[in-house]
Amino acid sequence: MARGKARTALRNVDLTIQRGEFVCLVGPSGCGKSTVLNMFAGLVTPTDGTILHDGRVIADVNTRVGYVTQDDNLLPWRTALGNVELALECKGVGRAARRERAFDYLARVGLKGSAELYPHELSGGMRKRVSIVRTLVDDSVDVILMDEPFGPLDAQTRLVLQDELLRLWQGTGRTIVFVTHDIVEAITLSDRIATFTGVPGSIKQVRDVTLPRPRDVFHIHETPGFATIYDAIWNDLREELLNERGSDAGA
Ligand SMILES: Nc1ncnc2c1ncn2[C@@H]1O[C@H](COP(=O)(O)OP(=O)(O)OP(=O)(O)O)[C@@H](O)[C@H]1O
Ligand SMILES: [Mg+2]
Repeated sequence: MARGKARTALRNVDLTIQRGEFVCLVGPSGCGKSTVLNMFAGLVTPTDGTILHDGRVIADVNTRVGYVTQDDNLLPWRTALGNVELALECKGVGRAARRERAFDYLARVGLKGSAELYPHELSGGMRKRVSIVRTLVDDSVDVILMDEPFGPLDAQTRLVLQDELLRLWQGTGRTIVFVTHDIVEAITLSDRIATFTGVPGSIKQVRDVTLPRPRDVFHIHETPGFATIYDAIWNDLREELLNERGSDAGA
């Protein structure tokens, strides 16, 4: 494609997310999932259509959403605790109160003993934990966006983090919009899964995940109903992935 030529990233995306819902977005690479999150966060403005948060049009950076991006973006000159405190500092929370709260959140993800370590002294999984609690620690944020947050991690660490995320989220009433390429991860975490078509992305299908909560991340395959929802999502996605490969082969 010629550089500088306009291209449509998304088309006809219509999705209503209820307060407190956990929604996963899945779809082929480049179909616009990150762009959708950027629009929710007010970092990208749609050329047509609107994004509403509690009935208000998002016209600027949306400070009511927290964003866990694909890269952890921790500040290298701040300890784990310092990084988690940052969000509270920006909101004007006093030093003692923010320390206590940040420490409590780190403890909930097993990082009590690592609070004073700097990002380069942490493993990839530990950095992800810091990055997630840094977003969750801020109570003024009622929607959390997560863009493939567990993408680069090994399979075992992913499961542990999925379990921790569900525990942190359950009962909070917060809304999570989570992008993943992993169908099992999407089923494990979400109330609904929106599948996107290939570029330009539009929503192909939205499916309810009715598996009971709390979910056993480590034995999710054994939960009755798992195979049915897995097959349905895979069928929605397979055609899009095949089209994507076909268009690449012909390019
Ligand atoms: N800053 C940008 N400038 C121009 N085009 C962009 C920009 N960011 C993304 N795009 C284009 O928008 C489309 C959607 O990109 P996006 O990053 O949202 O995809 P994605 O679904 O998140 O993909 P992946 O699964 O690989 O992360 C792609 O065609 C991409 O080339
Ligand atoms: Mg992306």
